[in-house]
Amino acid sequence: MLRISPLFLMTFLLCACTGGGESPSAHVKQENFGVTPDGDSVDLYTLTNPNGVTMEVTNYGGIITSLRVPDRTGTLDDVVLGFDSLSAYTSTAYRAANPYFGALIGRYGNRIAGGTFSLNGTTYTLATNNGPNHLHGGREGFDQVVWSAEPFQKDDRVGIVFSHTSPDGHGGYPGRLDVEVTYTLTPDNTVAFDYHATTTKATPVNLTQHSYFNLDGDGDGPILDHELQLYADRFTPVDSTLIPTGELRSVAGTPFDFTEPTPIGARIENTNKQLEYGGGYDHNFVLAEHPSDTLRLAARVYEPDTGRLLTVRTTEPGVQFYSGNFLDGSFSGKGELYEKREGLALETQHFPNSPNQPHFPSTILRPDEEYTSRTTYQFSVRDAQ
Ligand code: GLA
Repeated sequence: MLRISPLFLMTFLLCACTGGGESPSAHVKQENFGVTPDGDSVDLYTLTNPNGVTMEVTNYGGIITSLRVPDRTGTLDDVVLGFDSLSAYTSTAYRAANPYFGALIGRYGNRIAGGTFSLNGTTYTLATNNGPNHLHGGREGFDQVVWSAEPFQKDDRVGIVFSHTSPDGHGGYPGRLDVEVTYTLTPDNTVAFDYHATTTKATPVNLTQHSYFNLDGDGDGPILDHELQLYADRFTPVDSTLIPTGELRSVAGTPFDFTEPTPIGARIENTNKQLEYGGGYDHNFVLAEHPSDTLRLAARVYEPDTGRLLTVRTTEPGVQFYSGNFLDGSFSGKGELYEKREGLALETQHFPNSPNQPHFPSTILRPDEEYTSRTTYQFSVRDAQ
């Protein structure tokens, strides 16, 4: 009888996975992720780069379900909140509370006051799904769309092109909106999002990505020790329903000053009306002025224990920093309960409620224009200080 030693078997399996000791080559794996309550079959794509970084994404909502990146010792861990089954994302309880884990957001990321706006003399009414306001595209936002998906590999870059046509009038929005969003995982451990849209009628558009990060590893405690730097010296203060008042307020001397790296937990419990309204940080920051078609530094997040560093760049004028205040342990993903402030989101965007704030940068896309926007999340490490 042929006997194989466990050591030989382990070595053989490792070599098979890494291509004989060399770095793994970039590749995309596609598998079935289940069937939505509406009967649509959806897939899960696993993107792997040459460093072994993996990102799992489904064409249901363009949701990133998992993202494994190295710490300073090279150990990979999953740094995003999410679930490992489709039914967890489509359940009635999840949709009712919708924290938008990892989802592609549209047609309008963030809030529109009272779910209403006027354009060219017509008043439009949208769903109010967040108190009195419209949030993240309403009850049937892009986070619940089954997107057409085209995976690709170009040399050592891998990605997926998601496309979707939102019909004229869908959810109350004017115009048919043709949307294409490309997710790319590059060899320098960057995840890039390229957004493109065209419309048949003037309409507001504000697309973003709603991944929650915990650089310790998901389900591994609060993000309060993460050191955040925001390249913003102003933010948009809000009313009690989180609608901007219209003011662009200086962060100087306030708990909103992240111009130098500062632990998120350092001032989050300070007595401050804005922190009270947000239940913590849930505010749009005004990024430093800059030509709108090139990437600007928006944020850096550093986790001192693991050394993981996330750098966010964007062509957008703003970023919503949300400190996971509404997480309350109602959802457990990948075997972990997600409690308050166990994840943070950095949603690059135009400012909330822009359709009702004429002095904010415009979010109106017209039929003779193209919407383009780019955001990158780059993962690296820093040595211990
Ligand atoms: C955005 C909002 C938050 C919250 C989350 C989802 O970040 O600004 O208030 O609604 O989405 O829970």
